[in-house]
Amino acid sequence: MRGIRSVIGDRITVAMKVMGAPEGADAMVVPASRPEFGDYQVNGIMSVAKKLGENPREFAQGVVDTVKLSDVAETVDIAGPGFINIRLRLGWLNKFVNDFSDDPRLGVDLVSESSKVVIDYSHPNLAKEMHVGHLRSTVIGDTLARILDFCGHEVIRHNHVGDWGTQFGMLIAYLDRLSKSGQDSVSELEDLEEFYQASRRLFDNDESFANIAREYVVKLQAGDEDIRAVWKRFVEASLQHCEQVYRRLDVTLRREDVRAESTYNDDLPNILEHLRKKDLLRESDGAQCVFLEEFKNKEGEITPVIVQKSDGGYLYATTDLAAIRYRSKVLGASRLLYIVDARQSLHLRQVFGVSRAAGLVQDSCSLEHHSFGTMLGNDGKPFKTRTGGTIKLMDLLREAEERAFNLVGEKNPELSESERREISKVIGTGSVKYADLSLNRTTDYVFSWDNMLSLEGNTAPYLLYSYARINSIFRRAKVTDDHLDRLSEPIILSDPTERALAVKFIQLNEVVHTVAKECFPNILCNYIYELSELFMKFYERCPVLKADDETRISRLQLCRLTSKVLKTGLGLLGIGTVRRM
Ligand code: ARG
Repeated sequence: MRGIRSVIGDRITVAMKVMGAPEGADAMVVPASRPEFGDYQVNGIMSVAKKLGENPREFAQGVVDTVKLSDVAETVDIAGPGFINIRLRLGWLNKFVNDFSDDPRLGVDLVSESSKVVIDYSHPNLAKEMHVGHLRSTVIGDTLARILDFCGHEVIRHNHVGDWGTQFGMLIAYLDRLSKSGQDSVSELEDLEEFYQASRRLFDNDESFANIAREYVVKLQAGDEDIRAVWKRFVEASLQHCEQVYRRLDVTLRREDVRAESTYNDDLPNILEHLRKKDLLRESDGAQCVFLEEFKNKEGEITPVIVQKSDGGYLYATTDLAAIRYRSKVLGASRLLYIVDARQSLHLRQVFGVSRAAGLVQDSCSLEHHSFGTMLGNDGKPFKTRTGGTIKLMDLLREAEERAFNLVGEKNPELSESERREISKVIGTGSVKYADLSLNRTTDYVFSWDNMLSLEGNTAPYLLYSYARINSIFRRAKVTDDHLDRLSEPIILSDPTERALAVKFIQLNEVVHTVAKECFPNILCNYIYELSELFMKFYERCPVLKADDETRISRLQLCRLTSKVLKTGLGLLGIGTVRRM
């Protein structure tokens, strides 16, 4: 089904051309900013008129006289300096909303051509326990994966975990020492943070241990079987810990999505060879580097990308070059999304730049860094525990659930303890995720329990409460979802608030596809929030249970549609729903 916005856009464009607009002129049709303006507005008239040297209002008049929209639009009016406002026909909307109600995809089109998309997200460093610093990438990446999936793309999740590097020498030397002295290393590994600190202390204070640790790094890199086995045990324990966090966070990453840094080790010499053949390698202080014009600083000097250190060791960037080649050339992906902290912007620009220059990626492959800001505490500094330590993700999620548990208790004291537990799991995790997703990801954001758990405003509790409230209407009406979905009686839009809900339903398709393209989940959050607000307005004005039979059935179906859109939207954000709270 073609969305009505593109239908209107195409027809306006045709009319603009008839009126002399140049090739490629864009009608710029967007949902109206205010309901008084109608349902859609055309913003593209002024710039085209200017190019043609014509009076914009006159040009708009010409377009309005030419365009054929009478089958879908009730009014097509000129406003202000040359906007066109369009109001859809009620008859058209009535038909739309009834079709929408029969559509399991709620109007969201499957893409006509699916693309293969690799999403690089979460990617913690396995040396340590997952902490708040991993939250944003994990949550944003997972949402994008779900949305691209839903649109019909082939999504490949890559969890590019850090499992290589000098810290691992220290960690496995410590693990080895524990096992050899007969200590229970399994329980020691339960708290990875403790484990890291303990081995660090030893490393800093015990010279002979530090030497063993260094020796282990060399052996590990040389492929020594015994040392590798110890390393594998450590990595396994750390991955199991990540999986616990993922389960708790309701994130779709699985073991098979892990493509650790070490998987590219064998390919690193080939990458160097490739760069050499392309004549891109230069030696600088004994290191192998790539100098690209595009990385000139203000003084005109080029910042080099180091790909091999003077001691022969490879770097983070080298691994990324191998990964990018694998994704583009072996997997044949057409889009590579990197959901990575803004602080790694330069690194990724360099990796992208070298990959292009060296032909490590297909020309047509789109390389996209979707960055995000830092999570800050109330003091505006990076979010830490009171004593300045990093906050473990598991602890954060536990606290979220506890706080949600109290919230539910206040709101609805009649619920049983176990119901309250179930509900607070959804609200707790959902609040943490939603607080992150609902903001424009590019800015830093202040983590605040009070804001994210508030029942008012654009928050998870507010949205979940709206969903629960709709379900309470169904309970009072003694109808089930199934029952409502099978009704054959029509939905009849009469009140303006009902009409507004229907117009909002139309936008779901576009919103989902926009997020798939631009990778800003906050657009979907805004949409869901606006829908909830429209629903509340409808519910305040329009009696449902007390209405006459025909209206009652129609309105119950509108309630049902709203609940479906809310559930689908929240589901795409990786947030569950509850029927009461
Ligand atoms: N593991 C890295 C870190 O903790 C992030 C990896 C990002 N992905 C990538 N392909 N470089 O900083």
